Amino acid sequence: MEKKRKGISAVVLLALIQGFLASSAAVEVQPSINPAKVGQTVTLSLSPSATLKSGSWAAGDSLIVNWIGDQQAVFPSHTGRALVNVLTGALTLSSVTVADSGVYVVQSSDPQLSASASITVLEPVSNVTLSVNETELMEFNSSAVLRCSVSSGSSFSFLWMNGSSEVTATDRVQLTDGGATLTIVNVTRYDQGPFRCCVFNPVSNSSSDSVNFTISCE
Ligand SMILES: *[C@@H]1O[C@H](CO)[C@@H](O)[C@H](O)[C@H]1NC(C)=O
Ligand SMILES: *[C@@H]1O[C@H](CO)[C@@H](O)[C@H](O)[C@H]1NC(C)=O
Ligand SMILES: *[C@@H]1O[C@H](CO)[C@@H](O)[C@H](O)[C@H]1NC(C)=O
Ligand SMILES: *[C@@H]1O[C@H](CO)[C@@H](O)[C@H](O)[C@H]1NC(C)=O
Ligand SMILES: *[C@@H]1O[C@H](CO)[C@@H](O)[C@H](O)[C@H]1NC(C)=O
Ligand SMILES: *[C@@H]1O[C@H](CO)[C@@H](O)[C@H](O)[C@H]1NC(C)=O
Ligand SMILES: *[C@@H]1O[C@H](CO)[C@@H](O)[C@H](O)[C@H]1NC(C)=O
Repeated sequence: MEKKRKGISAVVLLALIQGFLASSAAVEVQPSINPAKVGQTVTLSLSPSATLKSGSWAAGDSLIVNWIGDQQAVFPSHTGRALVNVLTGALTLSSVTVADSGVYVVQSSDPQLSASASITVLEPVSNVTLSVNETELMEFNSSAVLRCSVSSGSSFSFLWMNGSSEVTATDRVQLTDGGATLTIVNVTRYDQGPFRCCVFNPVSNSSSDSVNFTISCE
């Protein structure tokens, strides 16, 4: 019993120290995931942790939620998808969309603090398709053009594979359209593939089917 009471007072003391640190030292907002994938739940926590009696969260200039004590009011733009932990001030955003990318600002007057963090929400890459204009080529006399397309995804990059090796640009191997088009000028018998394109962003990656070329020699 005695031991337990000591334990509790240590926790209270720690909370007081943390509260003091929060009001004096700079508080930062830490996202649980960043960049996040569309549909995920992101929690923005204060670090070091603080005990806030009231405050507000805004996305840029528009308010998301206000709270005083254990009462919180979520603004219509975020009804059903924003929740504040009234003890720690942490904001939880559920089912995030690309439009939720931006700067989140927390403000409190008791204790006095203001902090912000920026988060990015990305659409995962899906349906990577490879198309070629022809697959029957003549050695030293044909050029192969391979185009890679994606149905959805944000901020993605392309990577081309030739068998298990990554394709690198040379004077006869050109990567254009931000890497979406691969042109092989004057193909040789060694350019039969299989070729495929891989598309990736910080939250996902996806690969196309592969294509082989039939290269006829003179
Ligand atoms: C996948 O991409 C191809 C070519 O861009 C398109 O024709 C097809 O409808 C897409 N499929 C899906 C399921 O999005
Ligand atoms: C290259 O192809 C063109 C037409 O596609 C043809 O007229 C020409 O003879 C070919 N050259 C060689 C060296 O095969
Ligand atoms: C494929 O693209 C290459 C390079 O642009 C071109 O020389 C060739 O004629 C094209 N073939 C077809 C069937 O369009
Ligand atoms: C492709 O072949 C043509 C004719 O053989 C030649 O003129 C041209 O320089 C070659 N291009 C490259 C990039 O090797
Ligand atoms: C594909 O790989 C083969 C060797 O496996 C190489 O000889 C050829 O030049 C490569 N072609 C391209 C376009 O990278
Ligand atoms: C591709 O995505 C998978 C999960 O879907 C992940 O395990 C892998 O590390 C990713 N690869 C790259 C190169 O990003
Ligand atoms: C392409 O060639 C490889 C062997 O080099 C073979 O395993 C693969 O099935 C071929 N793919 C297609 C689509 O024909």
